Amino acid sequence: DWSMENFIDMQVKKIREQVGDKKVLLGLSGGVDSSVVGVLLQRAIGDQLTSIFVDHGFLRKGEGDQVMNMLGGKFGLNIIRVNAEERFMNKLAGVSDPEKKRKIIGNEFVYVFDDEASKLKDVKFLAQGTLYTDVIESGTDTAQTIKSHHNVGGLPEDMQFELIEPLNTLFKDEVRALGTELGMPDEIVWRQPFPGPGLAIRVMGDLTPEKVAVVRESDAILREEIAAAGLDRDVWQYFTVNTGVRSVGVMGDSRTYDYTLAIRAITSIDGMTAEFAKLPWDVLQKISVRIVNEVNHVNRVVYDITSKPPATVEWE
Ligand code: XMP
Repeated sequence: DWSMENFIDMQVKKIREQVGDKKVLLGLSGGVDSSVVGVLLQRAIGDQLTSIFVDHGFLRKGEGDQVMNMLGGKFGLNIIRVNAEERFMNKLAGVSDPEKKRKIIGNEFVYVFDDEASKLKDVKFLAQGTLYTDVIESGTDTAQTIKSHHNVGGLPEDMQFELIEPLNTLFKDEVRALGTELGMPDEIVWRQPFPGPGLAIRVMGDLTPEKVAVVRESDAILREEIAAAGLDRDVWQYFTVNTGVRSVGVMGDSRTYDYTLAIRAITSIDGMTAEFAKLPWDVLQKISVRIVNEVNHVNRVVYDITSKPPATVEWE
């Protein structure tokens, strides 16, 4: 009968039979799905697996190191980390159109992945964290055309791999249960959704390192305070947005002219519709005070009180 333990045993056996003594490549994003695939494959085939983790420079604070320490350290995955921050920043210089930003990041991601993958010898398989919902939705999802969704780990077009998709019969909640059964910590298993283009679409308009730093630092404070308030399982997704708007403020005796930061926190079941989360005032107050005190170039914090529709979850 069906249990997560049996599922793991079955998948391990199936993967070993399929792979034999060949090599497998995995694109790690730091998200739940690819991380679970990585740990499952590690259990099945050990060092026949090589993972590529492209850091495009738009990850949350500490996320890259966390992936390396947890998946590389604790679980022993062989991970090639590519620090491609400059490469992405150069491509994005002066670009302010949201769709162009997404396209550039998606394309560049595939190029970087491709460059690294082509250095590896004798890889026969590509593993992907495709879920059951991806299988049934592919080709029919009109919502996807509202914004181009670029997931990490896009398949380089001219590469010939056979696919391994061990999660393609599972729903998201089952993937989380699988991760827990594999001994993975809650910080990975219960990670909130994070878009492929990352913080780049949480800075309105064109990007500079300074604008990205504002959103990265404020996001870290928001996450800390939501966790401290015990709300991290209740709020589906929560993040900050650098609106790019500057407004006048006062600090000590002097006038400031700095960024307006927005907090977005929503409740949702699947991201298709959402309501803004009714966070307690005192939690919001604490977050606001900390952000203005601790993050340079922010003098005003606002709370996004729109639902989806008509607003989307992300601002770009
Ligand atoms: P929107 O902004 O379309 O977001 O209301 C709905 C959900 O999808 C996430 N999202 C993305 N996820 N790649 C992803 O993997 C993307 O390009 C992307 N854009 C948005 C968003 O964070 C929310 O959970």
